[in-house]
Amino acid sequence: NGIESVTELKNLRPTDLIKGGLPLGKISELCGAAGVGKTQVCMQLCVNVQIPEVFGGLGAKAIYIDTEGSFMSNRVVEIFNATGNLLKQNFNLNNRNELIKHNFTIDKILSNIFYYRCVDHVQLLACFNNIKILMEKHPQIKLVVIDSLAYPFRFVDFKDSNSMTMKTNILNNIMSISYELINKYNIAILVTNQMTTRITRDVMSNLSSSNLVPALGETWAHSANLRILLSWKNSKRQASVCKSSYLPDTSIFYKITERGFED
Ligand code: GTP
Repeated sequence: NGIESVTELKNLRPTDLIKGGLPLGKISELCGAAGVGKTQVCMQLCVNVQIPEVFGGLGAKAIYIDTEGSFMSNRVVEIFNATGNLLKQNFNLNNRNELIKHNFTIDKILSNIFYYRCVDHVQLLACFNNIKILMEKHPQIKLVVIDSLAYPFRFVDFKDSNSMTMKTNILNNIMSISYELINKYNIAILVTNQMTTRITRDVMSNLSSSNLVPALGETWAHSANLRILLSWKNSKRQASVCKSSYLPDTSIFYKITERGFED
């Protein structure tokens, strides 16, 4: 598609769905219900983005903005080990020395994930202003994850018009900084989002999954260039492209194992 991307490994693909990985220079959204695997994908991509160029990766760094407190370094270690094994297998390496030679070690992986914990919308905006400075120092950063964008807004009552305006302004500010970073550094931004109930006239009498829409409303809805919905279908996990200017709407089944996100 002429779009560079955060490289995927043979046999360990976040999905075949997005044809080569998460696009650089775009905002992607991963939405779905609680527990569907959004954080797992985010952690895996923080490892994948660091795969050395010699093994077909970007050899880059990542920023992880954690608003839910769900990032687990132990899980990153597990995913790193599995990724190392796949690289060994795919490149016929006898041992891990070749990976170590190219700095693909757990110490490097963890120290190349710049982690921010934000508990509310004010900290989230401050964090976005801070990462502008961080990225000047670390232009090797190619992935920024926000897990999740909607969560910090959940506990504030944004019902009156003043607070609604404040919420819209904060989201607009975050989007404007995101596009500034994308234009300057050609990074991939991945945002996770919850599902919420669409308020329609008949919603109370007919609550069904079709009434579930990604949270944050119209302001945000137009900002993501790629939207992937994670869901369950007949007790299998399913990932679907539901908004893209360069991919058809398709779905695949996936699993989450100790090795991470697999098809
Ligand atoms: P919310 O943050 O609540 O919105 O959920 P989420 O969509 O981010 O889900 P998350 O990524 O936390 O994934 C949760 C699911 O991943 C669980 O139901 C488990 O099935 C699976 N999972 C989480 N941790 C592990 C792990 O260490 N090993 C394996 N095999 N599966 C895990």
